[in-house]
Amino acid sequence: MNAPETLPSRPMPHVMNTYGRLPIALSHGQGCWLWDTQGRRYLDGLGGIAVNTLGHGHPKLVPALQEQVARLIHCSNYYEVPLQEQLAAKLCQISGLTSAFFCNSGLEANEAALKIARKFGHDKGIERPEIMVYEKAFHGRSIATLSATGNPKVQKGFEPLVEGFVRVPLNDIAAIEAEARRNPNVVAVFLEVIQGEGGINQTRADYLRQLRQLCDAKDWLLMLDEVQCGIGRTGKWFAHQWAGIVPDVMPLAKGLGSGVPIGAVVVGPRAADVLGPGNHGTTFGGNPLAMRAGVETLRIMEEDSLVAHAAAVGEVLRGALQQGLAGVAGVLEFRGQGLMIGISLDRPCGVLLTRAAEAGLMISVTADSVVRLLPPLILTADEARQIAQILVPLIKTFLAEPRP
Ligand SMILES: Cc1ncc(COP(=O)(O)O)c(C=O)c1O
Repeated sequence: MNAPETLPSRPMPHVMNTYGRLPIALSHGQGCWLWDTQGRRYLDGLGGIAVNTLGHGHPKLVPALQEQVARLIHCSNYYEVPLQEQLAAKLCQISGLTSAFFCNSGLEANEAALKIARKFGHDKGIERPEIMVYEKAFHGRSIATLSATGNPKVQKGFEPLVEGFVRVPLNDIAAIEAEARRNPNVVAVFLEVIQGEGGINQTRADYLRQLRQLCDAKDWLLMLDEVQCGIGRTGKWFAHQWAGIVPDVMPLAKGLGSGVPIGAVVVGPRAADVLGPGNHGTTFGGNPLAMRAGVETLRIMEEDSLVAHAAAVGEVLRGALQQGLAGVAGVLEFRGQGLMIGISLDRPCGVLLTRAAEAGLMISVTADSVVRLLPPLILTADEARQIAQILVPLIKTFLAEPRP
């Protein structure tokens, strides 16, 4: 990679104002490091929000994608795309599921899941199917997925919301059993195994197992949104595998393409034949470039044992953070698993985003008061310790300041 360009970062008056952005324009990256247009270097603790599984400029991924770009980028789903079968077969092998539909993003994968659930209901004679969703959930920004999301801030201004969702609290089996007794229209339960945008809130393993049993007993679909927590991030291919269960429907996206846009909904036998020709589609979904990115990402992850690595280096990172912040007033809890880590503080801490960037570290803050780390899975133990070395003093200083 050549030396960084030295260009000033500039506002973007022609781009719609949907993000509060930091005044940093990134130029290029290598491994877990990013450089901005002014030549400043950052350690990437964010991974493009759990997307850059293999970091930046990965020496095995880049030539494969270059070769694919030159060969064929897109051809439409009018034709067979052998790479779709290759990626679907691999996803089925690592998940124990049976088939996949490909799209371009997390919300699209979730839309497909919601359509599967509704059609599953209609196929068994339920005219107004309802789907159980969760408080603090995040499933995307389309009208249906924001309706399934459990955050009024995401929904405000976009009413009327899509109907057919019943909301329950996380990890409360009595609440869902009560709904099961009351509501004959339920067809599916839809949740993140670890809520990402909601603040790194973990679904308990015993709760997941109880849900699996309930879904079997009631003939409901168990639909697990692994868009953020899947693809090796927690130290298993998929976060639900820690509970030893298999879902019926599993939306994926983010880390599956290492940065090339991709989404997938992977299903088991109970959901595999719900959608037929004409029921669902996409122009871009399953294009050869995205499929190659998925195939190569999973291949490289396997070749380099990155799933086990995520668990091991996640321990290093968490250990260093816990040690550095032990006994610090205002640190409430360490949450998450592997390389999906949340540090919950006792006050809103959005300012840490800017302070971390100024100190050369990319992080995120979610649910107002949770510092979230989602670094590339290639993070080394040394880089994990560097993240803690930068972040711990920033959090300590922040918590020692008088509250605004
Ligand atoms: C769990 C989960 N589901 C769905 C989405 C939506 O994905 P996308 O932004 O690719 O539409 C996100 C994005 O953050 C997510 O975290």
